[in-house]
Amino acid sequence: MTEETNGLETKVENMTTKNLEEDVVNPWEVASSSDKGVDYDKLIKRFGSSKVDEELIKRIENVTGKPAHHFLKRGVFFSQRDMHQILNLVEQKKPFYLYTGRGPSSEAMHLGHLIPFIFTKWLQEAFDVPLVVQLTDDEKFLWKDLTLEEANRLSFENAKDIIALGFDVEKTFIFSDLEYITQSPAFYRNMLRTQKLVTYNQVKGIFGFDDSTCIGKISFPSIQAAPSFSSSFPQIFNNKTNIPCLIPCAIDQDPYFRMTRDVAPRLGYSKPALMHSTFFPALQGAQTKMSASDPNSSIFLTDTDKQIKTKINKYAFSGGGTTVEEHKEKGGNCDVDVSYQYLTFFLEDDNRLEEIRKTYTSGELLTGYLKKELIEILQKIVGEHRQRRSQLTDDIVKQFMTPRKLKFDY
Ligand code: TRP
Repeated sequence: MTEETNGLETKVENMTTKNLEEDVVNPWEVASSSDKGVDYDKLIKRFGSSKVDEELIKRIENVTGKPAHHFLKRGVFFSQRDMHQILNLVEQKKPFYLYTGRGPSSEAMHLGHLIPFIFTKWLQEAFDVPLVVQLTDDEKFLWKDLTLEEANRLSFENAKDIIALGFDVEKTFIFSDLEYITQSPAFYRNMLRTQKLVTYNQVKGIFGFDDSTCIGKISFPSIQAAPSFSSSFPQIFNNKTNIPCLIPCAIDQDPYFRMTRDVAPRLGYSKPALMHSTFFPALQGAQTKMSASDPNSSIFLTDTDKQIKTKINKYAFSGGGTTVEEHKEKGGNCDVDVSYQYLTFFLEDDNRLEEIRKTYTSGELLTGYLKKELIEILQKIVGEHRQRRSQLTDDIVKQFMTPRKLKFDY
């Protein structure tokens, strides 16, 4: 996986040369000046990734023998790096593994946080491969006003939300950085190898660090890079150093992995492949993503049926007309309508979604009905999640978080 020259990928996008007309997309900020949200085609060009096109989706279906997930068909996972190489491996019956993660900054996760995990679960089942999930409590300690103890506790709480999606304990290792790094010489060695190859000047360019950035943040990217290398998990991969990895994540995490892909060949490792998702829009509109720190911008997994109903009815930005008459005459705009956008994520039935799109656009379907349908779907998803989460014991969480061999032999 070495089609680019070393260093090229990180030079494609340099945060310090921000163009004001461009959407801002980095691990700490997502903002667009357009009411349709981030221009994702432009982002593919700026980041130097590739589009998830029809041909790739067909190939995924052929290789897995499964119909594509609706996140693929609807452009939620819209961008990728090296997916064809992963499919080549599968065709040659060679192994790979999945890696994703979450920064545990809040007790309650919201719907947007679930997107990469829902898709990761689908990938894991379609390809039958191991999954490692990094909980970066160290990152949140460095970036937020959190103690180490609190950040670590949040890791455990967030692990429950992830497990409640139905991951298989025999195929999945979830780890807190604060715990695993102190137990794993192999992981620490990969951090150090990365730290030696990346200069301050490079991370300044990639992440926008400056002279007042604390040194913990400056070295953190090496911690998010390490799980991309199979040698960081000798217990899972039987000390094999060359098992390639595929990372499903939201596109704002790409800077970390552009850096990782730069250093990988110099360490003798393969570059991680990636699949990038769009952002889950805030209730107020697609200019930004859901944020856990603004309770009215998000639907949380802990919200009650009533809260879900109120939030959608009161805050979900509508692309419909301001009056029934106006709506019937001019129709609704699905491109900016947040409730419609949410349906594209959570209403699986393609035919029903298309019917809604047509009738809303023509003005026949009113905003109230669109919202009603969404409210019911979300109440069901969140309700079932709440139920599954409440059944998880600390013991089950501990099993997922114990370093161990998984069901796969190498
Ligand atoms: N930095 C990510 C966050 O703040 C967490 C994370 C760590 C991650 N490793 C990852 C996300 C790999 C996606 C893929 O949420």
